[in-house]
Amino acid sequence: MTTQTIRFLQHGAVHEIADVPATRTVLQHLRETALCTGTKEGCAEGDCGACTVVLGELDASGELALKAVNACIQFLPTLDSRALFTVEDLRGEDGALHPVQQALVDCHGLQCGFCTPGFVMSLWALYHNHPADAGPPSCALVR
Ligand code: FES
Repeated sequence: MTTQTIRFLQHGAVHEIADVPATRTVLQHLRETALCTGTKEGCAEGDCGACTVVLGELDASGELALKAVNACIQFLPTLDSRALFTVEDLRGEDGALHPVQQALVDCHGLQCGFCTPGFVMSLWALYHNHPADAGPPSCALVR
């Protein structure tokens, strides 16, 4: 079973994919087709968060609203008309870490590192959606 052609924004460009299998996941697409291997597969059933990516779409006021989702259970056709952000998108032009990544480093907010891209993407969505609440990233953000 396939779907119609989908279009979505990733890495600043519109991507168009035809004949997308309805059950292909965003994680499969990222790792096997787009070769964006920063997004990890842990449980592959929506429990661990290692695969967390962020979807963006315009809200009713025209603002970009971000939502962290588990790529392992998010089907690829649902990306149509949305923006997809992965940990690769957070790297600054000069290679600098995003403030949420730096906060994780500064506060030793890591375990083995395998799940870290998922932690980062969840924090990034929170940071974007609630900038006034979050203030500058600090150790309080990662505790
Ligand atoms: S790989 Fe565990 S939630 Fe997706």
